[in-house]
Amino acid sequence: KKRIAILTSGGDSCGMNPAIRAFTRAALIKGAQVFAVREGYNGLVTDSIIPLHWGSVAGIINRGGTIIGTARSVEFRTREGRKKAAFNLIKNKINNLLVIGGDGSLTGANLLRCEWASLLKELVEDKAIDEETFKTHETLGIVGLVGSIDNDMCGTEITIGADTACHRILEAIDAILSTAVSHQRSFVIEVMGRNCGWLALVSGLTTGADYILLPECPPEEGWENAMVESLEKGRLSGRRCSLVIVAEGSIDSNGKPISPGYVRDVLEKKAGHDARITILGHVQRGGIPSFCDRYVSTRMAVEAVNYLYNGNILEPVLIGMHGNRVVRAPLMEAVKETQAIGALIREKKFADVVKLRGGIFQE
Ligand code: F6P
Repeated sequence: KKRIAILTSGGDSCGMNPAIRAFTRAALIKGAQVFAVREGYNGLVTDSIIPLHWGSVAGIINRGGTIIGTARSVEFRTREGRKKAAFNLIKNKINNLLVIGGDGSLTGANLLRCEWASLLKELVEDKAIDEETFKTHETLGIVGLVGSIDNDMCGTEITIGADTACHRILEAIDAILSTAVSHQRSFVIEVMGRNCGWLALVSGLTTGADYILLPECPPEEGWENAMVESLEKGRLSGRRCSLVIVAEGSIDSNGKPISPGYVRDVLEKKAGHDARITILGHVQRGGIPSFCDRYVSTRMAVEAVNYLYNGNILEPVLIGMHGNRVVRAPLMEAVKETQAIGALIREKKFADVVKLRGGIFQE
């Protein structure tokens, strides 16, 4: 009988709960024993692992966040922390793990998988486990689902929570625009996304923003004038408000962060606009999961169970969506590609970043 644990890690996202529900129930139907690791990797390090039953996940399909808790674990980033995690997995006889989290959390899952054999050897040397236990736990099945509002992970076209975050942003911007129009004001809105501009780009497209600032395409020197010009064009054609969306990781061509305050000052000084800032913050991560997030997370979670039962668990995978199909991608490759994008941003190789991000960024 498989003993499978689920953990959610990193920033929460709407759709994590529907994924927990679908995974638990699909695994129970297959005959597995299912466990929740509480508070992300911290729960692995501290042995906070509880059984999940059919009823444990009732009534959560329409709830945001994650009922099993999440955290950004500092201890799990150390080898000592991962050794404790390995010990606790073995102690609870868990041989399969579903991790729902962002790129950092899935990088952690990949690392645990890569170090698994050597961690077990150390535990035998420490006499924490015996040879027999070592043999029965030689493999750890790992499967990842990308839970993040940022939509910044390779291996999937959409991450769990990104769609709901877009709904939150759109609702907020629509509300702001109604007051902006009355006062003929300009608004500078900061949206989340860490180093990824996806949320800013797609929300800009769907709210009719005048100007969008993204980490992937830093504007060229003198961009301030180009921005003012583009806003003025709108005003001249009768628009009674202006909207600039700033992704939180936005930088200029020298790599210097662009703050919403700076953009507001430019609009006031260069265009003489009455400008205001709204930083949307964690509103974007909360609320009720959208149809899309319930739908994709449920499909992905069922596929994760299928993989643990029928796939080659020696090769950890990430379950993603591609062209409305649920797909499996090697976890290691998805992690490597995602990290490569981060490195390219740091090296200011923006054309390569756009190529790797693909999709809407390239269009
Ligand atoms: O990764 C999700 C995210 O919401 C990012 O968009 C944001 O930069 C970060 O998490 C905020 O983290 P925290 O909730 O720890 O402040």
